[in-house]
Amino acid sequence: MDNSLLTITDRRTGKNYTLPVDHGTIRATELRQIKEDAEDFGLMSYDPAFVNTASCQSGITYIDGDRGILRYRGYPIEELAEKCRFLEVSYLLLNGELPDEKQLENWIEEVKHHTMLHETSKKFLEGFRYDAHPMGMFVSTVAALSTVYPDAKNVLDPANRRHQIVRLIGKVPTIAAYTYRHSRGFPYVYPDNDLNYAANLMNMLWKMVEPKYVANPVLARALSVLFILHADHEQNCSTNAMRSVASSQADPYLSVAAAAAALSGPLHGGANEQVLLMLDFIGKKENVPGYIEQVKAGKMKLMGFGHRVYKNYDPRARIIKWTADQVFQVTGRSPKLDIALELERIALEDDYFIKRKLYPNVDFYSGIIYQAMGFKPDMFTVLFAIPRTVGWLAHWDEMMRDPEQKIARPRQVYTGQPLRHLPEAKPTLNVAVLV
Ligand code: CMC
Repeated sequence: MDNSLLTITDRRTGKNYTLPVDHGTIRATELRQIKEDAEDFGLMSYDPAFVNTASCQSGITYIDGDRGILRYRGYPIEELAEKCRFLEVSYLLLNGELPDEKQLENWIEEVKHHTMLHETSKKFLEGFRYDAHPMGMFVSTVAALSTVYPDAKNVLDPANRRHQIVRLIGKVPTIAAYTYRHSRGFPYVYPDNDLNYAANLMNMLWKMVEPKYVANPVLARALSVLFILHADHEQNCSTNAMRSVASSQADPYLSVAAAAAALSGPLHGGANEQVLLMLDFIGKKENVPGYIEQVKAGKMKLMGFGHRVYKNYDPRARIIKWTADQVFQVTGRSPKLDIALELERIALEDDYFIKRKLYPNVDFYSGIIYQAMGFKPDMFTVLFAIPRTVGWLAHWDEMMRDPEQKIARPRQVYTGQPLRHLPEAKPTLNVAVLV
């Protein structure tokens, strides 16, 4: 028996079709040969929200959702989080291999070279209201860089793409920090290239009058680990947005802005902020059973729980719990942790969650850590966007090199009105009326 072929019998016509199976998939276009008659357009697959459709081949990130496995370029996320620096992992995601010492040193220098923002970006930020959400400011400011770097439009040139990739990775922490400083009414702090990626972000966020900001090394390392965990997650909503928008050959600043906009939603990266709001709403441990009952009654969602792909414990959530312990040794234990642990304990024993395979995801504990470190909840999703920019750009470059990729353009199943006409009595408009 040939296990690389699939035979389909069309009971409408009695015809048999043999389709090749590759990597557990059939080509959707192969279905088009299955027709009722010569006039028929051919069969399509219908898959709202891409629940069972692969849109690309990718060599960047591997997830086995049933077994709770996440790997970047083949390396387990646990090993990368324990032993690597964030920019080292970024290099791996973008280039396919870990850098050697010299390559890492050069790469860090290259990124540092791009940390400054054009001064007009500050003026642009000034235009936002004092209480503008940092994520809205982040999306808009990244998009505005498209006007500062018109050369980025040359997306078919690999060297140019690489230049924009380094620029973006260098600049997103600065943009993120400036959105925070704007919302607090503090003066902007320029990057300090003596510091590593995470510590420099902390410097741009929190430096006040001291001549040199010194980041707590435990907190800077914790932020680095969180960045590694958030750097990529294959074809999630925002990466799909990145690929979709960039498939029209839009420049990378506009495409990353589109991806960040997708990330902002509460079902995606916006969930970390929602978790904190939920914990505030619950208020104390004793209120947890009542909240769980409301979730089961369909009145609320347990934010930070559930995942399209993971039907097991999200491996990132496990590392985040460990990171939380390190952070709390410096900051003191957050009282919210007790509510979160109780939510998790009850949910993991409850039939509603067990049956639906709902486990804590990456966003369940990250917000508690961020808050303990001094971040305000409205910054949480921006903190997610900084490292995910690397993933978006890795997918962008991979897509641009893939000869099979074209402009993204899904089909639809039309369910609207059949052909109909305007009443004959309706007069034809003449030019004068139009004016
Ligand atoms: N709380 C309560 N019930 C839930 C939850 C939840 N958080 N998530 C899913 N369910 C239920 C859902 O109501 C459905 O029940 P039923 O079969 O009775 O209709 C069932 O579980 C399957 O859910 P689904 O909505 O079909 O699952 P999905 O794959 O479309 O959605 C999800 C995945 C992440 C959007 C969803 O689980 C969710 O809304 N979670 C809360 C938001 C969240 O934490 N998002 C962050 C995701 S991880 C970070 C990232 O990658 O962005």
